Amino acid sequence: MSNAAEGVLAPFFDRRRRFSALKTVTFFALIAPALWMAYKVSTGIWDLPSPSVNLLIQSGYWATGILLVSLAVTPFRKIFRQGELIRVRRMIGLVALVYSIAHLMFYFAVRLWDFRFMANEFGTRPTIVIATVSMLGLIALGVTSFDAAIRWMGGRNWNRLHNVVYIVTALAILHLLLSLGSLSGLPFTLTGYFFWLMAWRALDRFGFGDRPMVLALLAVGAALFTALFEAIWLWAYQGSNAPGGGSPLATLRLNFDVEWWGIIGLPPTWKVLLVGLAIAAAAALWQKFGSRVPRATTPRPWSTWKGKLVIALCGAVVGGAVGIILNPAPPPDPFAGINLDIFGGGLGEPAQPTQPAPAEWPRIADILAYGAAGAIAGVGLGALADRRTRKALSLGPA
Ligand code: HEM
Repeated sequence: MSNAAEGVLAPFFDRRRRFSALKTVTFFALIAPALWMAYKVSTGIWDLPSPSVNLLIQSGYWATGILLVSLAVTPFRKIFRQGELIRVRRMIGLVALVYSIAHLMFYFAVRLWDFRFMANEFGTRPTIVIATVSMLGLIALGVTSFDAAIRWMGGRNWNRLHNVVYIVTALAILHLLLSLGSLSGLPFTLTGYFFWLMAWRALDRFGFGDRPMVLALLAVGAALFTALFEAIWLWAYQGSNAPGGGSPLATLRLNFDVEWWGIIGLPPTWKVLLVGLAIAAAAALWQKFGSRVPRATTPRPWSTWKGKLVIALCGAVVGGAVGIILNPAPPPDPFAGINLDIFGGGLGEPAQPTQPAPAEWPRIADILAYGAAGAIAGVGLGALADRRTRKALSLGPA
């Protein structure tokens, strides 16, 4: 086969030039969103009246989503023991770059190719600067993704550069969150998935990446993170534009408001929880019934002080989050600071709070107690797991 023909047919063949069903299916799955967008253009049925703005937003979401899928390849390889998935990682990353370049072209089209206007926008909108850095990072990764670049750079340097993909994705998500339209739903769901992926990496370093029980706890942690992040981000960045009026507590409550579900669909918190739990359940079933590869029997570093510290911190964060949810701040007194005594000769007197502010300390102490309990529970579970592993490997006490 000539080099050119090989290049064109690369999505369908493996390195030994044999037809690869995995690569072919992945390729068609990756171009499906582009076909769907082309179909939408042809029918003219969009959410927003301008096709270019729709294409700008849709291509941006697909670029971010596909980037997250490329980060999910390693976790899925390890959890489901499917080493061959590595063969599609480069293709997924490159397709994310193609969607990003298309997104940039739609941006130019929306701005009517007026580069003076765009230069001004670059100087005034931080989200565009962040997006540009993310885009440049993606291009650097794409250009160096070929075998020749790996040979030229050496495996170690190449790996170091390609770890930049996590920063590139974080910036893409920040760019998405900074959009004034990011008031609920997908932006926070994608943020939750990104958190899951980063936390999984940390857990995998300690040897827990393939444990169904740990994956179930990760699902709960990622869902809690999503709920708290959404509440705090909307309060800090969108203020009163946010659904629920911008108070973090109101945003947290929306997660349980079924009428709100009717408007935006299942809230991000529950989506992240369900997807995380589905992965944990699939891992448990697959490892029990499907996989032919035995579970790794390397000792887990529960016993190192660093491991214990990380587990304690994770436990404290989860415990603290539970504490915050169970001890919500009381709603502010709407009349605080307003002098209501207008008919009783109080006119002209400095405004007085009508009620003393509720004491904050008991609430803070409660949250800290939950955090401490979480940390202790984490270390306890770690010690238990350590003992079990050591017993299984007949290593004796640490
Ligand atoms: C130079 C590069 C880029 C530019 C100039 C750019 C510009 C824009 C603009 C103008 C919007 C419309 C929303 C707004 O005005 O804030 C947008 C939306 C979006 N962009 Fe980008 N972008 C760039 C790169 C990227 C990259 C690399 C990604 C992801 C990999 C991305 C993902 C998104 C997403 C998901 C949205 C939808 C946000 C929404 O719902 O409004 N962008 N982008």
